Amino acid sequence: MDNTLHIIFGTMTGNAEDLANRLADRCKAEDYPHTITSVEDWPLEKFASTHRVVLIFSTWGDGEPPDDAIDFCEGLYDQNAKVDHLEYAVVGLGDTSYDDFCGCARRLDEALKAGGGTPLCERLELDIDFDSDFDAWVETFLAQQLATR
Ligand SMILES: Cc1cc2nc3c(=O)[nH]c(=O)nc-3n(C[C@H](O)[C@H](O)[C@H](O)COP(=O)(O)O)c2cc1C
Repeated sequence: MDNTLHIIFGTMTGNAEDLANRLADRCKAEDYPHTITSVEDWPLEKFASTHRVVLIFSTWGDGEPPDDAIDFCEGLYDQNAKVDHLEYAVVGLGDTSYDDFCGCARRLDEALKAGGGTPLCERLELDIDFDSDFDAWVETFLAQQLATR
């Protein structure tokens, strides 16, 4: 089975992209097969030929996806996407001062779970001071992936 880790990010101001790059750098250092893609270049059909993904998405507006991720997210929420072959992890970036903290990531997680996807770990929700929490998560997550490859 292809265990390539496909890292997909949805961002407005670059934080999610930075974290996606950080995860990709760690994968590279561990020689772990991976790709990194902006959500705008990831049509939902691509999931059909994908086995393992990490979604790193921020939340905007009042619990909305980043602009570039609207089509992707609405498609996934609405379509009852069948993803029972997919293993996935979701990382949300947000700000606890907003009512719908990490709402976009939460809804993605719910949609993938409803479609039969298998979570690789619990959803990570990051507040504005996210650096050390994310780095700690990367190490735990990668150790788990390396142990099962
Ligand atoms: C106008 C505005 C609206 C936001 N709305 C939310 C929100 O509803 N929920 C949330 O958790 N965070 C919200 N945030 C916080 C962002 O998600 C957070 O700053 C995040 O780190 C941005 O990541 P990005 O640069 O990848 O887009 C909002 C921020 C701004 C400036």
